[in-house]
Amino acid sequence: MAARALDATGAAELVHAATAAPSMHNAQPWLFRCHLGHRTVEVRADPARAMPASDPDRRSLHVGCGAALCNLRTAAAAAGWRTETALFPDPDDALLLAVVRLTDAAPDAALASLEPQIARRHSSRWPFADEPVPPGDVADLVEAARAEGAALVFPDAWHAASLLDLVQDAEVRAAEEPDRAAELARWTHPVPDTADEGVPGYAYGPRRRGGAAPVRDFAGRSEPPGRSSAPFEAAPNVALLGTAQDTPADWLRAGQALERVLLTATRAGLAASLTSEALEWSDLRALVRDPLTDVGQVQMVLRVGYGPRGPTTPRRPLTEVMEIVGNPRL
Ligand SMILES: Cc1cc2nc3c(=O)[nH]c(=O)nc-3n(C[C@H](O)[C@H](O)[C@H](O)COP(=O)(O)O)c2cc1C
Repeated sequence: MAARALDATGAAELVHAATAAPSMHNAQPWLFRCHLGHRTVEVRADPARAMPASDPDRRSLHVGCGAALCNLRTAAAAAGWRTETALFPDPDDALLLAVVRLTDAAPDAALASLEPQIARRHSSRWPFADEPVPPGDVADLVEAARAEGAALVFPDAWHAASLLDLVQDAEVRAAEEPDRAAELARWTHPVPDTADEGVPGYAYGPRRRGGAAPVRDFAGRSEPPGRSSAPFEAAPNVALLGTAQDTPADWLRAGQALERVLLTATRAGLAASLTSEALEWSDLRALVRDPLTDVGQVQMVLRVGYGPRGPTTPRRPLTEVMEIVGNPRL
């Protein structure tokens, strides 16, 4: 049987799915190079979208690109491809994060089944119900992280509440550092505009009036007009995502695990938000780690629960993030 060709339309569909991934401040720090003849897609970091003050070692940048990589693999599986992924295949090119090769073997059915959730997943910074996540769904989320080489743990209510204090400490500190405050301003758009990047004011959610949910307040001193306030849940369902080590390859693994967890949560009817603020300070990051669990190096703090789905946020056009190389002949 002749090998199946990858054409430009098929490649664009994969990259479109990849770009739906979450990224810090919606900076979308990724570029994709599709080699049609080789049936490979390179995932590259875009250093122009790094945040030197808030993310000096580019850990968060890698997590976002890892999430995009997960979406790309998921869309490829749904399109009938088996994927083989090499992380950092060129030791001399640190911006080449991964190469995904499409093969004719049977696709990963578990990944393929998550594809419809890619477009539905969005961050929800709205209050969730004060209700626990059913044990079966918790088990599915834990398994989603494990399948990508990471650990997901749900700390107890005491530790979850202490995370709120850490997030608030981080928020105060960041506001006092001009470089970090400038980065936040660069990537937030309190008043609706036509930007195809950054966090729009309509996605900030209400200002928190009580409750213990650790949710970043993107408003800072620039409140979107007409923003309301609301009580958040008192006992949030908080989860920590971690990896055994803390290398750039682990950050990519964490990003893939994060997205697989989020797609699994979306399928279960759960909303989710992410909080990385406390992870942006090494002393606070150490405290985020729950001493009672074996989560390893914490790469993300998640909040899941029953609440409004997050609104659709903008993405850059494919023409700006995608390059096609070679012809489709094998
Ligand atoms: C590494 C990383 C860090 C993030 N940190 C936060 C955060 O601290 N607070 C928050 O509300 N969202 C955070 N997010 C979510 C992004 O803000 C969100 O993905 C982006 O604005 C795009 O919106 P969407 O998730 O609705 O598609 C983070 C996402 C990633 C990948």
